Amino acid sequence: MKTSDLAQHFEKTFGTQPRIFRAPGRVNLIGEHTDYNDGYVMPAAVGFSTYVAIAPRTDRNLAIHSEEFLGDFEFDLDHLPEKRVGAWCDYVVGVASVLRQQGHTLAGANLFVHGEVPIGAGLSSSAAIEVASALALMSLNDTHLPLPEVAKLCRQAENSFVGARVGIMDQFVSCMGKAGHAFLLDCRSLEFKFVPIPAGLQLVVCNTMVRHDLATGAYNTRREECEEGVRAFAKWNPAIRALRDVPVELLDQHAKDVPTTIWKRCSHVVRENLRTLDAAAALTEGNLARVGKLMHDSHCSLRDLYEVSCRELDIMVEAAEGLLGFCGGRMTGGGFGGCTVNLVHEENAADFAAHIAERYRQATGINPQVYLCSAEDGAQTLT
Ligand code: GLA
Repeated sequence: MKTSDLAQHFEKTFGTQPRIFRAPGRVNLIGEHTDYNDGYVMPAAVGFSTYVAIAPRTDRNLAIHSEEFLGDFEFDLDHLPEKRVGAWCDYVVGVASVLRQQGHTLAGANLFVHGEVPIGAGLSSSAAIEVASALALMSLNDTHLPLPEVAKLCRQAENSFVGARVGIMDQFVSCMGKAGHAFLLDCRSLEFKFVPIPAGLQLVVCNTMVRHDLATGAYNTRREECEEGVRAFAKWNPAIRALRDVPVELLDQHAKDVPTTIWKRCSHVVRENLRTLDAAAALTEGNLARVGKLMHDSHCSLRDLYEVSCRELDIMVEAAEGLLGFCGGRMTGGGFGGCTVNLVHEENAADFAAHIAERYRQATGINPQVYLCSAEDGAQTLT
């Protein structure tokens, strides 16, 4: 939707002129399930965004409206719910609630949310709505926070209000993404480096169109398993605070001393961190064969060691093999469905999309969606 159409829509619904903010979804090239282990990730913001239009009200209510998400909501800012209400507005209310907790003032507002990030596809539609809402709410109250702080605040909303124990990756890249670049983030220090995506490469994102029920429960279980891994390895080296601190030698030395499942989870995380650093260097040098190999290894590790892939994701990853222009691909995001990400030479991208869709359809009977994406800028104020 164009900014002017959104403004018109808003005026029709609420009778005033809004300010408009945009925050994108993301795709993760490599570094999966490493963010909450203080590790490394390399995502990119993509061209799908959520838009939030906002204007002040005279009372102390927060009204939240959308055309494509179901339900209109209105909350008294002085009596916000403490936990999620179980609807899409949770991402907005969660952010408002954390802003309040942190001592920021909040004025009554009308909010209009327009989301273009595919929902449930693992492209971080939730981070996009959180970040756009945070910028919108802050603008009304003259609150100025640096974008990395906005990312932290949004993550907190998702952790404490929505109740999903996610890491910082999605919110951070939604805030800080840069066109034409992937983004190597150290999730402990929050230092980051932009990694240019070589010219002529397209990010082809393939949506399996499935999302298994396991997704949320299994995510939190994986987090607990990682915490158990940290406790185990800290016995051999008390300086270990997170799986990020476990050297690969120590990991392998104790393969038999840690319960098998826990060791598998740790092995994925420790090696995925190394792969991510390696992939950032390879992408910088334009060594696409190396990047492709690392993406492939990442997928196998997520499938066999971290066990967060599923049949449809594996089929989509295999369907890319041998197609013209394909450099590398893997599942992306939390797993159990959602999308794969593929690096494909631009001139072959359209054919690649058609062929992979056909192969997937034949193998599963499901019609996939394929998006030809590029790395785009992070959140911004539009009007
Ligand atoms: C989800 C979470 C992220 C990250 C990924 C897995 O997208 O929101 O924080 O943990 O899963 O890498």
